[in-house]
Amino acid sequence: MNSAFRDLTPAQQLVPVTLDGDELMLPDGANLAAALLAYGVGVFRGTPVSGAPRAPYCMMGACFDCLIELHGVTRQACMTQVQAGLVITKPKGRDHADG
Ligand code: FES
Repeated sequence: MNSAFRDLTPAQQLVPVTLDGDELMLPDGANLAAALLAYGVGVFRGTPVSGAPRAPYCMMGACFDCLIELHGVTRQACMTQVQAGLVITKPKGRDHADG
């Protein structure tokens, strides 16, 4: 994926995670939101009402625009560290909320 962001610590060990069923390699221990942005993930979720796309904004736990699901539990990606085996799902907004 293309990204406007650059990983400033490329020497870190990469570990496997899955994102919506696709395996990708991210830096172990990195901030998950930053790692996904650097990988090229542009949209993290859709809003519950309209499904409008959202992506990390504040990177400090205040805006909640980085919400993703980790092993089925909603979490803030910017408050999470990358570790091997993470199962990440992007909430799909209105369709997701309706089941
Ligand atoms: S980017 Fe704002 S809470 Fe995560």
